Amino acid sequence: MNRHKGRMTRDGIRIHEQADFAGMHAAGAIAAQILDEVAELVKVGQTTGALDAFIERRVTELGTTSATIGYKGYQHASCISVNHVVCHGIPGDKTLKDGDILNIDVTVVKDGWFGDTSRMYVAGKLPRKAERLIQVTHDALMRGIETVKPGNTFGDIGHAIQSYVEGQRMSVVRDFCGHGLGTVFHAPPNVLHYGRAGTGPVLEEGMFFTIEPMVNLGRPETKVLPDEWTAVTRDRSLSAQFEHSVGVTADGVEIFTLSPQGKFHPTYTP
Ligand code: MF3
Ligand code: CO
Ligand code: CO
Repeated sequence: MNRHKGRMTRDGIRIHEQADFAGMHAAGAIAAQILDEVAELVKVGQTTGALDAFIERRVTELGTTSATIGYKGYQHASCISVNHVVCHGIPGDKTLKDGDILNIDVTVVKDGWFGDTSRMYVAGKLPRKAERLIQVTHDALMRGIETVKPGNTFGDIGHAIQSYVEGQRMSVVRDFCGHGLGTVFHAPPNVLHYGRAGTGPVLEEGMFFTIEPMVNLGRPETKVLPDEWTAVTRDRSLSAQFEHSVGVTADGVEIFTLSPQGKFHPTYTP
C-alpha cells in the first residue's frame, strides 16, 4: 500500500486524506495520555531523568515507539526544559526544587503516525509570575489554534500568537518554530509563532502540523548550550511552552493531542 497518499502543495506541504486523521488521533491521544500520567511524578526532589525513564517505559507499554530516541543523536524519550530553558532540555540528574516550572515534550510514533505534544508542570508551589507566564503561553497556543481553518494563512496563526503575547508584555521566541508532521517528525512548513496576518501559505483541509509557542518573561533571544541541545534564554528570564499537534478540517481544526483526562490546562494540580 502507498504510505504517501494525498497530494503536496506548491510549498511542499502534504495534504492528507480523511482516513489519515484517525491515525494522527490515535498517536496524539497516546502522547497526551503519557503527559497526563507523568503529572503525578512531578514533585520537589524528583530528577528529570526519573521523569524521562517513566515516559520511556510508558511509550513502550502503550504500544508506541519514541520519535526522539535516535533522532539526530538525541538519546531520550522526552525533552524536559526547566525554568529559563526554552526547549530541548536533556533529562538527567537535575533535581527539581520548590517553584521550578518545567515543560515536558513527548513525541510518539503509532502505526507510522507521529503525535507531538508538550505542557508545563510545576514542582511544589507555583510562583505568581510563573503562573502568569504559563497562563499567557497556554492562551497564546489556543488563540493560534482558533485561527486554524481553510482559507486562513500560517501568518494568521503567528500574528494571533505574537499580538496576544506582546500585548501581555511578554516575548515570543523566534529561534524555534512548529512544523508539519504526519508520517514524518518534521516536515514543511515552518510554523512561525509570530508574523503578519494574511501572509504565508494558505491553510487547506488535510494539513497536519504542530503549534508550539515558546514565551519568555524577558527578551526573546536564546542561545544553545555546549551540549548542542539545551536552548536557554540569553537574559536567563523564565520561559514557557505548550504544544499541540493539529489537523485542518473542512470547517476548522482537530486537535490530536487533547488530554484524555482534561489535564492539559496549566492550573491543573495532581
Ligand atoms: N518534540 C520536539 C518538537 O516539538 C522535538 C524534539 S527533538 C529532540 O519538535 F531530539 F530534541 F528530541
Ligand atoms: Co514539535
Ligand atoms: Co514536541
